[in-house]
Amino acid sequence: MELTKEEEALLNGGRGEAAAKLMRLLVVLGELYEADRMLKVSSVHVSGVSYQNLGDAGLSLLEDLASKGAKVRRNVRVTLNPAGMDLEGWRLMGVSAGFAERQLRVYEAFKQMGLREGLTCTPYEAGNLPAFGEHVAWAESSALAYANSVLGARTNRESGITALASAITGRTPNYGLHLEENRRPTLLVKVEAEVKSEVELGALGYLTGLSYGEAIPYYQGVRVKSLEGFKALSSAAASSGAIALYHVEGQTPEAERFKENLRGLERFKVERDDLKKAFEKFPLDVGFDLVFLGCPHLSLEKLVWVAERIGGRRVKGELWLCTSRAVYQRALELGLTEAFKRAGALLLRDTCLVVAPLRELGFKKVLTDSFKAAHYLSGSLEASLASTSQCVRAALEGRVKP
Ligand code: F3S
Repeated sequence: MELTKEEEALLNGGRGEAAAKLMRLLVVLGELYEADRMLKVSSVHVSGVSYQNLGDAGLSLLEDLASKGAKVRRNVRVTLNPAGMDLEGWRLMGVSAGFAERQLRVYEAFKQMGLREGLTCTPYEAGNLPAFGEHVAWAESSALAYANSVLGARTNRESGITALASAITGRTPNYGLHLEENRRPTLLVKVEAEVKSEVELGALGYLTGLSYGEAIPYYQGVRVKSLEGFKALSSAAASSGAIALYHVEGQTPEAERFKENLRGLERFKVERDDLKKAFEKFPLDVGFDLVFLGCPHLSLEKLVWVAERIGGRRVKGELWLCTSRAVYQRALELGLTEAFKRAGALLLRDTCLVVAPLRELGFKKVLTDSFKAAHYLSGSLEASLASTSQCVRAALEGRVKP
């Protein structure tokens, strides 16, 4: 791989030992994938922020990098993925002091390196919004699928450490989805059912990911009516499989280029019965002791919608709503946080249930409107799925109606 003089200097320790180590990691990765050069990146999203996932080994790696002077490259917009708790309201979640102490150390190490913004899986709603065609390095599967597909930015499926390396060096190797020829669809998905809601878009993404985990799907016959719908589709497809880019005919920015060139692609037909089967994996009859909304993190519009649905009543069970710091701040200004408090619901920032210390929290059955959350949570507890309005109604009534 060809490196510029500046990149050679970086590799040889010109910006310190930590930056050199991280540059070496990117060079090795680039060589592995036969990249011809490095690309400059203007936007990075770093995952691996929850102590629940990092453990002590991850914490000491971050503290080591911070103590060796790793610093975010100037002119790179950087955001962090959610942590294992609301950094301020962790006591309300029932998180132990021991976990909180370690999680705060993780955040402190990131801060020392210049990463302090975000703590969300929707960085595009928190000021990190790449333009069409921009080369970026994003981790967090749901966010990077959204960035590639809906924004038309270009990123590979980065890990926490490779994204951090890009934040510090301002570079990413030129391979995979950065290259024009690798962005064409590899699968034609013919949707032969009316997809009526955001959670059904999640079902569509979930089915695609399950059956064709590595594909670049081209969806025909579906209309995504909201950004929340794209969030549901992106997050579900990226969790049951490893889908990092998809196209929706007539909607996503690169779809038009491929419209006339779909002959010969493998086909996947999705009918109403298939969507129903996806829901059957997370049945409602198991009940719930927590309703969780906000995977991916809720937008302000969706929070307003939920508050209107609650309409001044009190919830009977536990209702947790997760959002970004940026949206939380707007919600505070609009009086929404107060309204949720009065309703007995918990509005959290910086975190989500999936990356929180589940065992400490003690929940056994969770009802959610997110296929991604249900998919991951079902590894450690019982998860069931319903539409957002069914979820809100269930929280108000203490039981879920099919
Ligand atoms: Fe975000 Fe957590 Fe879901 S990080 S996409 S809310 S699993």
